[in-house]
Amino acid sequence: MSEEQMNDSKFSRLFIIMIIAMTVLTIIIAVLASFAASDVNAKLDERSDIENTQATAARIAPVGKFSATTVAAAPTEAVVLSVEDMYASCAACHATGAAGAPITGDASQWSARLAKGTDTLYNNAINGINAMPARGGNSALTDDNVKAIVDYMINQSK
Ligand code: HEC
Repeated sequence: MSEEQMNDSKFSRLFIIMIIAMTVLTIIIAVLASFAASDVNAKLDERSDIENTQATAARIAPVGKFSATTVAAAPTEAVVLSVEDMYASCAACHATGAAGAPITGDASQWSARLAKGTDTLYNNAINGINAMPARGGNSALTDDNVKAIVDYMINQSK
């Protein structure tokens, strides 16, 4: 083997080693890059999931929400209560005589009041008198409701 041939073969060996080394390095860089990218991609996926969920929730949100406030604001007329039912809010005092209320059904406690006339009793029940709160403290009752309850109480107390 001549000197020149030796150099050639040395050179080609070195050349092949370098090519292999560069190929390996390239593969390592590619693997590292794909690791880094998968992390970023996972974060991007996660974010778009959240955004999609929010967007969907906004799209399918109900036009009218049914909440406790809506129920409270609903007209009270829609609920038909019997006089006996409505009297329950008055019974707290008028069944027991609490706060000095005339007891329903006790004619002796009502005779003097009946003498004042039904209209006065209606007015005092609607507007309140002394310890008797306006509408018995139940502001949901209409004037007609209160009058009906007063009629009911009076009839029981004659
Ligand atoms: C917090 C207790 C209380 C509640 C609840 C209450 N009352 Fe009375 N009520 C009284 C008292 C006390 C009196 C006596 C007031 C007075 O003459 O000094 C009275 C008196 C009355 C009288 C006689 C008024 C008069 O002029 O003599 C009527 C009628 C009456 N209440 C109706 C009602 C009705 C109807 C309700 C329910 C919607 C009701 N009350 C709920 C305490 C109450």
